[in-house]
Amino acid sequence: MRISVIGCGYLGAVHASAMAELGHDVVGIDVDARKIEQLAAARPPFFEPGLPEILSTATESGRLRFSTDIADAADAEVHFIAVGTPQTPGGHSADLTYVNAAFEALLPHLADGALVVGKSTVPVGTAARLAARLAEAAPQASLAWNPEFLREGFAVKDTLEPDRLVYGVASDDAAAILDQVYRAAIEAGTPKVVTDYATAELVKVSANAFLATKISFINAMSEIADASGADVTALADAIGHDARIGRRFLNAGVGFGGGCLPKDIRAFTARAEELGVGESVAFLKEVDQINLRQRQRVIDHAVQTLGGSAYRQRVAVLGVTFKPDSDDVRDSPALDVAVQLKGLGADVIATDPEGIENARARHPQLDYTSSTDEALHGADLVVLVTEWREYRALDPVATAARVANPRIIDGRNVLDPAAWRAAGWEYRGLGRP
Ligand code: UGA
Repeated sequence: MRISVIGCGYLGAVHASAMAELGHDVVGIDVDARKIEQLAAARPPFFEPGLPEILSTATESGRLRFSTDIADAADAEVHFIAVGTPQTPGGHSADLTYVNAAFEALLPHLADGALVVGKSTVPVGTAARLAARLAEAAPQASLAWNPEFLREGFAVKDTLEPDRLVYGVASDDAAAILDQVYRAAIEAGTPKVVTDYATAELVKVSANAFLATKISFINAMSEIADASGADVTALADAIGHDARIGRRFLNAGVGFGGGCLPKDIRAFTARAEELGVGESVAFLKEVDQINLRQRQRVIDHAVQTLGGSAYRQRVAVLGVTFKPDSDDVRDSPALDVAVQLKGLGADVIATDPEGIENARARHPQLDYTSSTDEALHGADLVVLVTEWREYRALDPVATAARVANPRIIDGRNVLDPAAWRAAGWEYRGLGRP
């Protein structure tokens, strides 16, 4: 099919490349000329495993082109809107400026029978509003809402082999078009839920709200574990064996961050309040509070371990991204911890395999090094806040020889406390005795 993808960020660039990989003829559109230039040269503007490969195959085959001119989308039968919906500055709701702008810009270019497909995460009710606008300004086209569940770090696989497809549609025709787009996944037996606009919009935010709640639940348990001498990791293993609960997303630590979970739970709360049912999801405020408290707990543990003051102490912060296998530092708990320790007077040196450039752009006041060895050298305290493979694999004996004082805060509960203590370390996790 002929497809356009409007917005070429984490979501759109992967979606466009994956659609071309599936054999469709795709044009990616973005207002950012630099991003388009990089993508056209098959250089992803961000780190995502597997993306460089499918991006170069697709651009070389001629099935994937990029443009800053929305008129280049005019040929497409299906238009995916994949622009960002960040948190409103100074508020909690989602900022729909980019969705509205992309939609309005597209209207004059819609061919007969074209399908506009929303992928962006939006407050419930947005699709109905856009459908009404479409009926008035471009009645030859129709609208579907088709939320995306990809995870950064696994985005290519999640797009090519999604675990489910959700179509929010107003007609069977729209669903049939989406079936053609996702033929490969459908033939592979991927479950599909066909529903109305509102449900499709809510599926997305409720999935992220559930995941955020699961993480904050285990982090709350880790606070109880700290106060009672219990071990939250063993607790998670034990409750996780119950198939109704499941072990995934029960890792206690410095908490969730990124461009999705934090802003989505806030936008969900704001939207529920607008709808007059704020109480229904008022617990998400608590989920947010628990999550933000984890960052403070890591800082408190750090200061305590340093004997009550971080001033002039050399602290090696391992990780700045919000999770491993990503260069994304949006609302990153790791970077937040580094910045706050610096604010307390510590000599912070932060390191990360992929995130330094983005971190430096936001927080140039921090010292960074790409070398783990250099970060560790002479450290009075090591704080592990993003569980990159290389940090999990650190050898406690060799690492002890690099630092000035063998003290570590394991902000992701990924190291073996016994092995680190045996190598002479003062080890502290979250909710681990
Ligand atoms: C999340 C969802 O998982 C995706 O399904 C969704 O499509 C995406 O948001 C989105 O809305 O676009 P992502 O932001 O890539 O994906 O990251 P996650 O893998 O969900 O991790 C989020 C945060 O939770 C990370 O900071 C991670 O370190 C943290 N986390 C995760 C924990 O602290 N504990 C856990 O057990 C799991």
